[in-house]
Amino acid sequence: MRKKTNAGFSMMNVCRGVIFYTDDKDNKRIYYAAGAKLYCINAITGEPITTFGSKGGIDLHQDLGLNAQHLYVAATSPGIIYKNLIIIGTRVAEEMPAAPGDVLAYDVYTAHLQWIFHTIPHSGESGFNSWKDSTAYLHVGGANAWAGFSMDEEIGIVYVPTGSAVYDFYGGLRLGNNLFVNSLIVLNANNGKEIWHYQTIHHDVWDRDLPTAPALLTLNLNGRKIDAVAQPTKTGYIFLFNRLTGEPIFPIHEQPVPAVSLLKGEMLSTTQPVPVLPVPFVRQSLTKNNLNHLVPHSSYNDIAKRLSCYQSNHMFSPPSEQGTIIFPGFDGGAEWGGPAVDPLTGILYINANEIPWVLKMLPITFKNNNHETMLQAGIRLYQMHCMSCHGATMQGSGNYPSLKHLFQKYELQSFIQFISSGRRMMPFFNNYPLPKKGFSCLCVAFKK
Ligand code: HEC
Repeated sequence: MRKKTNAGFSMMNVCRGVIFYTDDKDNKRIYYAAGAKLYCINAITGEPITTFGSKGGIDLHQDLGLNAQHLYVAATSPGIIYKNLIIIGTRVAEEMPAAPGDVLAYDVYTAHLQWIFHTIPHSGESGFNSWKDSTAYLHVGGANAWAGFSMDEEIGIVYVPTGSAVYDFYGGLRLGNNLFVNSLIVLNANNGKEIWHYQTIHHDVWDRDLPTAPALLTLNLNGRKIDAVAQPTKTGYIFLFNRLTGEPIFPIHEQPVPAVSLLKGEMLSTTQPVPVLPVPFVRQSLTKNNLNHLVPHSSYNDIAKRLSCYQSNHMFSPPSEQGTIIFPGFDGGAEWGGPAVDPLTGILYINANEIPWVLKMLPITFKNNNHETMLQAGIRLYQMHCMSCHGATMQGSGNYPSLKHLFQKYELQSFIQFISSGRRMMPFFNNYPLPKKGFSCLCVAFKK
């Protein structure tokens, strides 16, 4: 029987792999994460290694700062071993409040933290000035490495791809280019010190996380061999760098992009980096010319009419209340799974997604005005914490189920239990930011 604890329920969250570790004394261990817990077991017997952390596990919240202790954190990808370190990243919430996406390195035996890299720089750290608000690291979460890492074991370098910061689609509360969001961060695996970094999107408002660990490969460029790193993106680019120095293999141009947002307080970057080569591996804009002519005439006209209502002329069209086509979509390009290289043929294999999405922005209220009814509070909480995935009218879309008529399916208690535990790609909301009263208000909103 499952115990009703946070740890027990967070077991329902995704775990995409485990790490096997062995040393010269023939210790054989497996490290795996369930929710925010990182566990260590004997690979032969399956028994917990009780000397690792507290009875064989640690809580990844513990080193993320005071503000993050109650927030959603789940290690969905397995992390990577270097010498006697286990280096691990996390999935965090995509709306505020969200935990920081810091990269953590623990001793494989003692579970003591050996180093931490702040992906949203603290005061005085490199990249700090790319945030207009000097307190951003205290209240903006994300910039997390959820897709896993690549490691050059010989030279002791770990390659860390990061995702977007919260809010995914609105950056008015985090003005600036926002390092190290959507960046390839290259760290000395021994001590977590930065060697070089490259930001693939400035001030992201399209949820364009770097969606895979990069591929390490050796290029043969006009007879010259170069150890390189290839980072594919959701937008269909492959950023190629010299693995050691970070020098781009082909020129990358800062190209002007549509930068006028009509959303209050938003200021977008006027340029975005575009590599000259390799050519993109997916299409990068959706226009009438791309629509399928083979469908019945009425369907074609219907789709063309809908398309004309939205902004769809550019991959970097700003999010809008009118509606913006996001193409390649939130799960576009190389999301996810990871590239593979065949060194014999020199071919890089990448999965390529072309799924357009419509993104519509709505003004919402953040603040409890003390006089709000339970229904108003429920709608406010829904908009703050649920709407970005389940839609403005709870209709759902894509991977996100509709929440209409929810209470024909759920008893109140099982609803609360579900929200507190999460399931697969549904994050859990426990105690904070949704206290007991919050659940009751949400229920009123769902029953309306
Ligand atoms: C990051 C995206 C995301 C957010 C934010 C999110 N959900 Fe979900 N939700 C999902 C996904 C994905 C599923 C499907 C889970 C699965 O695969 O079982 C889901 C499933 C659910 C279900 C189960 C539906 C069913 O038919 O069984 C409920 C209920 C639910 N969510 C409620 C909420 C509430 C309430 C909130 C806000 C407090 C919320 N969700 C926030 C992604 C999200």
